Amino acid sequence: MALIAFASPKGGVGKTTVAAHVAALLARRGYKVVALDLDPQNALRFHLGVPLREERCFVSRLGTRPAWRDALIEAESGVRVLPYGAVDPLRALELAQMLTAEPQLLSDPVREMLAVPDLIVVLDSPPGPNAALTALTPWLDLMVILLLCDAGSAAIIPQIANNRFLGRGTLATRSADRAVLALNQVEDEQPLSDAVFDMARAALGNRLIGAICHDRDLAEALADKRMLLQGEPGAGEDLQLLADAIVKRLKLPRPGGPDGGFSALFEWGRL
Ligand SMILES: Nc1ncnc2c1ncn2[C@@H]1O[C@H](COP(=O)(O)OP(=O)(O)O)[C@@H](O)[C@H]1O
Ligand SMILES: [Mg+2]
Repeated sequence: MALIAFASPKGGVGKTTVAAHVAALLARRGYKVVALDLDPQNALRFHLGVPLREERCFVSRLGTRPAWRDALIEAESGVRVLPYGAVDPLRALELAQMLTAEPQLLSDPVREMLAVPDLIVVLDSPPGPNAALTALTPWLDLMVILLLCDAGSAAIIPQIANNRFLGRGTLATRSADRAVLALNQVEDEQPLSDAVFDMARAALGNRLIGAICHDRDLAEALADKRMLLQGEPGAGEDLQLLADAIVKRLKLPRPGGPDGGFSALFEWGRL
């Protein structure tokens, strides 16, 4: 039903942390959510509580055309996870080359997922331009670009505003206009953070859909094997608001039909 990517020109900006939380928050609201890790760092699984012993994975096995339903792991968070798989850097490079040559190895199964009624697919992307995200860009409903409130991010905001950050040409421009920005690790009363925030708001208007404060609780959540899903003051609340903004932006129907109740479609066996 909907394909949402968390992406950024930069690494270490919170893509995986935020993707995992938004996926889990949507699942808590009753949506059927698959979280697909496109990043060879393979970290999304840890955020979403996939057990260590679990060896099923997806992107690293795409060459064998795996059945995506068989690879789904039901994590504690209520999200169905498709981990990237553990690979060394050389293998990651080979996989990227394979996806550049045959993007349909990834786009075909994702299009199948999108044909499932009510299913939301959340992508965690590696930083910068990459073959996996490029393969899926034409089918994206929303690309949430994450940046920090720092000087490096300030330089990128104008490119996002004029839809040129995915490159030139009609496909890049048309895909880019589905991109929105969320600022992460926003610091209160820090002049640089304030300045970048104001600049983003002025350049992007309502395409700035979220701001998440710097919160030590969020940084420590992974180490403690927990997530901030209760609207905890600070980042917990900001993440809830970001999930709200995404639901609104995509006009996602309430899960389970117009009443918002849980329908039989929630039986995962029927996926
Ligand atoms: N709002 C935040 N406040 C404090 N720390 C954060 C916040 N968001 C992310 N982090 C921390 O920043 C680091 C990078 O986050 P991560 O999600 O791995 O980024 P990316 O996926 O973009 O590389 C992690 O240590 C994470 O815990
Ligand atoms: Mg990451």
